[in-house]
Amino acid sequence: MCGIVGYVGNKNAQDFLISGLKRLEYRGYDSAGIVTISGDNKAALIRAEGKIANLEDKVAKNKRDDKIGIGHTRWATHGEPSEKNAHPHKAGEIYLVHNGIIENYKELKKTLKEHKFASETDSEVLAALVESFYKGGKYPLADAVVQALKLVKGTYGVAVISEKNPDEVVVARSGSPLVIGVGNGETLIASDASALVGHTKRAIYLNDGEVAVIKKDSIEVKTLNAEPVSAKVEEIETNLAAIQKGGYEHFLLKEIMEQPESLKETLRGRLNVAEGSVRLGGPGLSEGELRKIKHLIIVGCGTAYHAGLLAGYYIEQFTPEITIETVIASEYRYRQAYIPEGSVALIVSQSGETADTLACLREIKRQGVKTIGIVNAIGSTIAREVDGGTYVHVGPEISVASTKAFTSQVIAMVMFGLTIAQAKGVKSTILKPYVEEIAELPEEIRRTLEDTNEKIAEIAKKYKDYEHAIYLGRDTAYPTSMEGALKLKEISYVDANAYAFGELKHGPLALVDDRFFELALVPEGALYEKTISNIQEVLARGGHIIAITNTDFDLPVENVVRIESQIKIFAPILMNLVLQLFAYYTTVAKGYNVDQPRNLAKSVTVE
Ligand code: F6R
Repeated sequence: MCGIVGYVGNKNAQDFLISGLKRLEYRGYDSAGIVTISGDNKAALIRAEGKIANLEDKVAKNKRDDKIGIGHTRWATHGEPSEKNAHPHKAGEIYLVHNGIIENYKELKKTLKEHKFASETDSEVLAALVESFYKGGKYPLADAVVQALKLVKGTYGVAVISEKNPDEVVVARSGSPLVIGVGNGETLIASDASALVGHTKRAIYLNDGEVAVIKKDSIEVKTLNAEPVSAKVEEIETNLAAIQKGGYEHFLLKEIMEQPESLKETLRGRLNVAEGSVRLGGPGLSEGELRKIKHLIIVGCGTAYHAGLLAGYYIEQFTPEITIETVIASEYRYRQAYIPEGSVALIVSQSGETADTLACLREIKRQGVKTIGIVNAIGSTIAREVDGGTYVHVGPEISVASTKAFTSQVIAMVMFGLTIAQAKGVKSTILKPYVEEIAELPEEIRRTLEDTNEKIAEIAKKYKDYEHAIYLGRDTAYPTSMEGALKLKEISYVDANAYAFGELKHGPLALVDDRFFELALVPEGALYEKTISNIQEVLARGGHIIAITNTDFDLPVENVVRIESQIKIFAPILMNLVLQLFAYYTTVAKGYNVDQPRNLAKSVTVE
């Protein structure tokens, strides 16, 4: 979603702002802008609709050597994507960029009679509000920002500069991330640490309710109530290679292919294969606390939700006396759900910033329930607010469609389930097969990707003109099919929906005709025969079926992708790789933007 960058130092601010905004492109946006201020108090505001390249062209025609500035990529919420709605917004002498939503902007706007509004955005209202306290420089900028933010309802990450003070940027956050990069004679600002990589390794992650006055060689952090904060400087672990394509045409393919390595990172130091046990330090629950768990609430959105569903199927296989409820965060946050005694919540999020997931975390915590994060982004808001957690450690995921995070989220949650089972005294003979397969997964993932890649590229070409797809699976293959359908629809815009095979006769079978193709997941196991019968029912109605299986399969479907692997329990994880590749190659064949699908953003920081 929207991105913020800022710079104050001795170098060219425009250069950093443009390169920083490019780093944030992956988050999804529809317009962008920067403003820089010269030493003699003159601002250069440059904004453009569409890609950063458009902004870059305009900047090239208005090159300046200013040493301070702020920039923004906008993902439209209030008002269409257009140059006038793009940030930075100007009010008097101040310029402001904003991530988040000002919920009471209409009421605030009514009080701001002196400002002539040029955009339809809630963010310009905030700019005008700050100016109403700043009064052309009569009061300090930081005080004006604080006064304004005290009146605001909603979420924000903001950066503000003034023509009158070309040596400071004021930033603040509430619900929308802001990172301050501590450099040598320069200070950098970004809503996402990836914009800072290569410039500095030292960062301060601002907390909600904090405001900072940033100069080239000083950073002063306070709360909105003017209490000083001694901010912790943390290390940015990401390196440049992790945020570059590394020879791949698209980030998505790179991230799919990275899964053998990214899963290894998730497992590092956490498995004891000889004993068939798992050790997770992060959740911070004692044996006694683990033993008392009776109910698991797993919260996530989109892919993280699907990972939770799949993990839930596994955990209930080996953990006695436990109920599992996997919920969609945007729904759960408004439900009046009863949380039974003995509950623990797993909060699943790649970015660690998803607004709905964060809201659930806060509500669940408020009810006194322990929360455990299954998060990728280190230092993210969710990671910092949960009671304990297990980082999945897959490295930056740049492509909007989530792939490597899914695989590791499932396995991290299964490992958490295994720690509960161990504490509850489940025999290691029951748990060991899970631990052994998890240990083998990275290599089996590598092999499956290698074996199936070319074939899937061919199949995807054949099906690229279909507008509708049905994904089908039973048991653990059912949440897997949901994830596969999401991947296809979000990047190739095919209307793909998943159904549990057993549900077909209750409605979806009526859809089967030549406009649709079906992707059937057929794992070996107890429900194999039933799955075969379900496929026959689709075949009898003229279905165009692609079957993905890890066992013998001789039905006359149009295509079969056979996965050769000794992995049985986690075969759906391998099948999901095929579905990821299928979505990727379909999108390439259609010629769409793989890494930045239309209308979507990587990190959904608004509700
Ligand atoms: C789909 C996808 C989204 C995210 C969802 C949650 O490919 O990426 O559905 O999974 O927006 O995001 P996080 O995991 O960052 O909370």
